Amino acid sequence: MPSLKPRAPKFLNRPGKPGEQQSDAMTKAKESPADLLGWLDERSGGAGFLTQMLYRKVPKGTNWYYTLGSATLFAFTVQALTGVFLAMYYTPSTTQAYGSITHLTNEVWMGEFVRGMHKWGSSVMIILIFLHMGRTFFFGAYKYPRELNWVIGVLLLILTMTMGFTGYLLPFDQRSYWATIVGININGTGPIVGPYLSDVLRAGAEVGPTTLSRFYAIHMLLLPGAIIALIGAHLYLVVKLGTTAPPWLRADPTPKSLREHRIAAAAPVNGADARTNGAGADGGPQRE
Ligand code: HEM
Repeated sequence: MPSLKPRAPKFLNRPGKPGEQQSDAMTKAKESPADLLGWLDERSGGAGFLTQMLYRKVPKGTNWYYTLGSATLFAFTVQALTGVFLAMYYTPSTTQAYGSITHLTNEVWMGEFVRGMHKWGSSVMIILIFLHMGRTFFFGAYKYPRELNWVIGVLLLILTMTMGFTGYLLPFDQRSYWATIVGININGTGPIVGPYLSDVLRAGAEVGPTTLSRFYAIHMLLLPGAIIALIGAHLYLVVKLGTTAPPWLRADPTPKSLREHRIAAAAPVNGADARTNGAGADGGPQRE
């Protein structure tokens, strides 16, 4: 496995042309990035983690569909960043919320752009998360040993949709007000917990100031925190278990007689690997 020990880039190590002399200060300046990385690695052990993460095995047949999870992660990052800027101008009050958003849209430099990115980004994230879920479902990636990651994914899906629901109220215009009432009432029809859930969401007898503060706190503190923690667990399991090979590579087309002959004759093959659902068998399909 290649070592991630920080080394100065090659061009810094060139011997130099005859007669060319580099001052001490210049040499030190060139080496400082490598020194800094070494300093960080000695104290954090980050290189080991990065090596494991970046050089992990992926099954043969890994294709563009496997990028949907990372695309969802990217969409979430964009939402988090644009959300920070929106929060700088937004006032979570029933009398000022709409005005603060109009001000942001019409008067703040790039305000409309950032708001647009956040608004359209929410739809993009929902679309990507469903596509990613579809990929994992149709590739059978929910099966052993990845059931837990599927369950974490389902939680992420619920939290992401709740993000959309709580964010929708924040402009506090006619559309968001009535849509939220409809949403809360739909929640109320759920079995057993439904009525309690709608009471918790409404935070009072009517949708009003307490509802808005509650939705804002849930939208910008509770849910992002929970989503970040769950994404951490999700990615930890992806790195630990590896990804699933595409289903068409998992089926072994070799005739049974030949397979038995190979098993008898062959010496230790790489062995089917539960982490890639067998795609690494015979040392063939799996690659680093
Ligand atoms: C915020 C939302 C999510 C993010 C950022 C995310 C991110 C990722 C990433 C980066 C991967 C590895 C690459 C890939 O297979 O695409 C992955 C794998 C996986 N995800 Fe997600 N994911 C999310 C939501 C979901 C949901 C909703 C589900 C299903 C209900 C899910 C189930 C899985 C499973 C089972 C794997 C393992 C795939 C395999 O072994 O091939 N994820 N996820």
